[in-house]
Amino acid sequence: PVLVVDFGAQYAQLIARRVREASVYSEIVPHSMSAEQILAKEPAAIILSGGPSSVYAEGAPSFDPAVLDAGVPVLGICYGFQLMAQALGGSVGRTGTREYGRTRMSQATGRGPGGGEVGTAEAASRLLSGTPAAQTVWMSHGDAVERAPEGFTVTASTDQTPVAAFEDDARRLYGIQWHPEVVHSEYGQRLIETFLHDCAGIGRDWTPGSIIDDQVARIRAQVGGARVICGLSGGVDSSVAAALVHRAIGDQLTCIFVDHGLLRAGEREQVERDYAQSMGIRVVTVDESERFLDALAGVTDPEAKRKIIGREFIRSFEAAQRALVAEAGEQGAEIRFLVQGTLYPDVVESGGGDGAANIKSHHNVGGLPEDLDFTLIEPLRTLFKDEVRAIGLELGVPEHIVWRQPFPGPGLGIRVIGEVTRERLDVLRAADAIAREELTAAGLDREIWQCPVVLLADVHSVGVQGDGRSYGSPVVLRPVTSEDAMTADWSRVPFDVLARISTRITNSVPEVTRVVLDVTSKPPATIEWE
Ligand code: XMP
Repeated sequence: PVLVVDFGAQYAQLIARRVREASVYSEIVPHSMSAEQILAKEPAAIILSGGPSSVYAEGAPSFDPAVLDAGVPVLGICYGFQLMAQALGGSVGRTGTREYGRTRMSQATGRGPGGGEVGTAEAASRLLSGTPAAQTVWMSHGDAVERAPEGFTVTASTDQTPVAAFEDDARRLYGIQWHPEVVHSEYGQRLIETFLHDCAGIGRDWTPGSIIDDQVARIRAQVGGARVICGLSGGVDSSVAAALVHRAIGDQLTCIFVDHGLLRAGEREQVERDYAQSMGIRVVTVDESERFLDALAGVTDPEAKRKIIGREFIRSFEAAQRALVAEAGEQGAEIRFLVQGTLYPDVVESGGGDGAANIKSHHNVGGLPEDLDFTLIEPLRTLFKDEVRAIGLELGVPEHIVWRQPFPGPGLGIRVIGEVTRERLDVLRAADAIAREELTAAGLDREIWQCPVVLLADVHSVGVQGDGRSYGSPVVLRPVTSEDAMTADWSRVPFDVLARISTRITNSVPEVTRVVLDVTSKPPATIEWE
């Protein structure tokens, strides 16, 4: 793999993704790893990430400089660049000038040492080859490299930063002050590809096809002839995980879909159609809506609702599993394996790397408990979301699943504000279906991250319908745009689309007297209302 050593950068994951986009497998490792541990992974190349610290700050994250002597190609970015300079005998200073954001960078012109036209840049670069002499890069730093280490050539500079990049091509060590991983660096991806393919000589073999082949072989080796179950939510991750396992072991896989009564209109039928018919996967649907609604009776606190839904989900799942085992009877081997759609960001964020697969609570599947007696199969554990989508398409997962918008595990249960009842769910379901239809018809599905429709069930407002006054509840439309749900902005849905949604809802859902639009970003508001 290519190892991205993480110095606390918000960008480490982004760097790893850019490497994958260059069709090269990458992994993120913590900076606390020793050189021995790092080299034991036999990295084809190493990238030192940026980080929030100053290399001089007390307790600043550091690394074992022995990795620079191992003959492995290394690229240092921002903080990683400064660490390289420091470790190899250059110097880093608090320059007092901060560069932040888009910055003009100039390459050396290749006239040899001392002959550079701009700043102190002195020779042409292997790393920057094929890109313009002047280009826009994204900077974010306070400290700066003041002197390159012995044997290194300075290859780029900016107005504020004479040493903006250096390299020792013979030793295959490269460093840059800017962030090539962010889109604002014009030739950032090009630079990463040059480093990987030209400087480090790594081939392009990380492709959807190769990932599938590799996972299929692993799953077969892990499972043998045993039976496997998968909890389906209908979302992208569990669907692609199921499709991958199905490709590997066919009918040894059974998917369980728990209908908790908090689904949107048509969702259950759609899941059954998609999996059984389009993908040929065996799906057992269990209707547990009674169980969930009974448990939710009288409950209004959002966290309490979530906990109850999580708990009942587990019970439903266990019951379904027992039924499956019983049904298989004598010949039915025990079910020992459970498929989970865990993604790489979940693994990195929970501090795990190679950790043994033991069940952990996971929001995708509604939080299965610690003591479920299964061995996990997590075929997406090394993948980012965009890779999961690419694999899904390659496996023939229908496009509307691959591009499906997120929908929370607790479903409409956290979109009825106040007590959740069957009647209220029916009202919300009807309004939600109309909003979804109109947004889809307007071609906004990809642009919008998701659009919760929320029923303010305990609020009553006066309306006038026909000749009489009516009295009903408002629904809120909450369309948002987002990259990762961590932050979001309200979407500027065209007025005429909003008007159609409003008219249709108030005409056809008599319990709703008003449709309002949520125009709050996240932060300060969350995407969901509860
Ligand atoms: P918030 O409301 O926290 O939502 O801004 C961020 C994203 O997470 C989804 N969400 C959930 N998903 N279980 C889930 O599986 C939950 O309890 C849950 N709560 C929020 C939400 O739809 C949005 O995409």
